[in-house]
Amino acid sequence: MPSHSGPPFRALALESSCDETGVALFCSEKGLLSNQLHSQIQLHQHYGGVVPEHAARAHVAHVLPLCQAALAEAQLDLHDLSGIAYTAGPGLIGALMTGAAFAAGLSFATSLPLWPTHHLEGHLLAVGLSQPMPPFPFVVLLVSGGHTALIMAHALGVYETLGQTLDDAAGEAFDKTAKLMGFPYPGGADLARLAQKGRSGRFTFPRPMWHSPNCDLSFSGLKTHAWQALEAAGHAGDLNEDTRADLALAFEEAAVAVLCHKTARALNNSGAKHLVVAGGVAANLALRQHLHRTAEQAGAQLHLPEPQFCTDNAAMIAHAAVLRVQAGIQSTSADHNLHLRPRWPLDDLKA
Ligand code: KG4
Ligand code: ZN
Repeated sequence: MPSHSGPPFRALALESSCDETGVALFCSEKGLLSNQLHSQIQLHQHYGGVVPEHAARAHVAHVLPLCQAALAEAQLDLHDLSGIAYTAGPGLIGALMTGAAFAAGLSFATSLPLWPTHHLEGHLLAVGLSQPMPPFPFVVLLVSGGHTALIMAHALGVYETLGQTLDDAAGEAFDKTAKLMGFPYPGGADLARLAQKGRSGRFTFPRPMWHSPNCDLSFSGLKTHAWQALEAAGHAGDLNEDTRADLALAFEEAAVAVLCHKTARALNNSGAKHLVVAGGVAANLALRQHLHRTAEQAGAQLHLPEPQFCTDNAAMIAHAAVLRVQAGIQSTSADHNLHLRPRWPLDDLKA
């Protein structure tokens, strides 16, 4: 973290881009002071996916109690803060608006500056919440439920997308395949647990876009292949627990193999010596193990965030905002203007 003389920066951050309501407090000197989270998974499970209107309503119901809990845990008052960070995008517009409007109200009442923060920048810097930040430049494999991309982080706030999925995100493919296997939403972690009981080699899944000469990826074919394999096993009267586990493992092996293959290409093409993994699928154990080998073969050092900071949370938003303020990229003067960008390419983020 860059050194800075003067009083520490303390950010209160709100995360409400999708189906987790998060409120966190982060201090430039002491680190993370509180990380409050309310997951809406149970609410959306009934529908098999996130219902935007319900997500927004649940954020409204939970943001204030979480904010009170965060301040109480950190034993801080609103007037001890330096600014209020909120996720300005990308995300669901109604959900984003709830966090932004709450942040604007706090800013109006306290005269604290508002720090609109990019959700994906939060993810790709989250590794720094539990260990020293790797030096720039580094390659980031971003694998979440909504996004899958290989990104070159040239400097704080300067990001270049090297390749991305042309259809489903990796987490989305895990979730859709899990749904086919009867798991409730989101299902990715359940599928990974089932895969641990599987035997390798019984089913072979394709490796989509393996030979394409770029860092782009594709996952929708894996889900279709899983559906066909499940149908075939069902018709053959062979859809027992062992078969489900073998299929889950074959799916996971294919997804992990293409992610590592394209990550190796990004490292070799760029010559970067550091690799960061970010997003919910970074919690996947098989992916974490294989990436160790990928990084080693490319002569790069692997930096893995703690699993609790891989999935959506407000700690990563507070952390990113404080890094930007410390670096002088984000203004500390009172700015109460709301910024919202439900579609916000990371490459457009201006340092
Ligand atoms: O980053 P995240 O919390 O949400 C987005 O911003 O999209 O990622 C959630 C995604 C879900 O698709 C979830 O199923 C997946 O991460 N996920 C996993 C695992 N844990 C979470 N996928 C595979 N293996 C896991 N262990
Ligand atoms: Zn996310």
